[in-house]
Amino acid sequence: MQKFIVRGGRRLSGELELQGCKNSSLPILAASLLCGGECVLMNCPKLTDVFAALRILGCTGCKCTFSDNTAAVDSKDITRNEIPEELMREMRSSIIFMGAMLGRCGECTVSVPGGCELGPRPIDMHISALRRMGADIREDGGKIICRRMGEKLHGAKISLAFPSVGATENIILCAVTADGETVINNAAREPEICDLCGFLRKCGADISGDGESRIVIKGVNALHGCEYRIMPDRIAGATYLSMTAAAGGEIILRNACVPDLEPFLSVLEQTGCSIYTSSRDRVYLRSGSRLKAVRDRIRTMPHPGFPTDAQAVLMAALLCADGTSVFEENIFDCRYRHTDAFIKMGADIQVVGKIAVVKGVRSLHGAAVDATDLRGGAAMISAALSAEGMTEIGRICHIDRGYEKIEETVRLLGGDMQRVVKD
Ligand code: UD1
Repeated sequence: MQKFIVRGGRRLSGELELQGCKNSSLPILAASLLCGGECVLMNCPKLTDVFAALRILGCTGCKCTFSDNTAAVDSKDITRNEIPEELMREMRSSIIFMGAMLGRCGECTVSVPGGCELGPRPIDMHISALRRMGADIREDGGKIICRRMGEKLHGAKISLAFPSVGATENIILCAVTADGETVINNAAREPEICDLCGFLRKCGADISGDGESRIVIKGVNALHGCEYRIMPDRIAGATYLSMTAAAGGEIILRNACVPDLEPFLSVLEQTGCSIYTSSRDRVYLRSGSRLKAVRDRIRTMPHPGFPTDAQAVLMAALLCADGTSVFEENIFDCRYRHTDAFIKMGADIQVVGKIAVVKGVRSLHGAAVDATDLRGGAAMISAALSAEGMTEIGRICHIDRGYEKIEETVRLLGGDMQRVVKD
């Protein structure tokens, strides 16, 4: 069992190169199944979720390699269209393989995604959309069995009840080689959707409107392999900026995509940190004296609203701010589980339903806590760096799903953080 030991009280300072984006690597890896040739993905982050996706691809017959942040996937020969449950469980977002497998093989069997730490994560929108495109989908003993009904899947007009990121991705994956045109209304507008579409276009797909709420996909006969560079991870960026804001100090983020970070930066700025974005790919932040609470309610919303994935890390920065900050979590039902750890460290937080009221305290102290989920776990590191004394963080497998060498990055910035292996 591994833990992180963090000793707080040091200011952070330094320059770092942002990792590649987890949330677009996963659908892009799934999309490589559709290409029938070799895809080379650069800037692919070294994460347990990425390795789980590569294992899923390997199990379908793809030949995969990974070195120096480059993943190569050759999907010429697909030998299997059933993904075993143990592999599906390894990665929360494995449902993204459903659209890709259907598109490539015309049939697939996957299992219902395992329980999730963010409350129930239904897939009703994914299923009803794929049905409208000609897939027969039924559930049998925890397995989802999908088969196209006719010769080919066909385009459809789909209006999503909510701009779900995963459902938008699954529809795109299914539509790129389907017969005719697919229109997605109320599509998710997250930058990761644009990254997936950018990759698919390089493979020969005909997609327009990504980044807007109406995406049009014209099915093509076949895709081909390509080389593609994965975008930077805006949530990892938000995490390291929040950490520096919380601990005090200064940081330069390189390889960042500034426009994608803006919904987050515009809120972080209200804490009194100095933030400069000198070019499209660099962010400088300096955090001096005590932060100010954020006056306006922080409402998580689909992009371009404030990202739910940055809620916990921003909260960590506001625990010792001057005044009261109010969060409203509108995307997931159960996304305040990190608050128990913060309270154990001395924070003053009241949670009622989707509202969390954070009253800034003078200081935090170290404690033994467990990561509850990926972003909540990263937020605990941030709180620990600004706390007095030592914090021991358990269940760090959650954190390793999304942050590449996080302890090395924190040490590079001057923080005191070690990974220890305990029996
Ligand atoms: C993705 C991201 C995750 C991020 C989230 C919202 C990946 C790998 N994960 O997750 O980090 O927090 O977007 O930005 O990219 N819903 C339904 N029915 C469905 C699908 C979704 O009710 O069929 C609900 C979910 O329960 C949730 C909301 O819609 O309450 C948003 O989910 P969605 O946008 O689909 O998130 P994910 O794609 O799972």
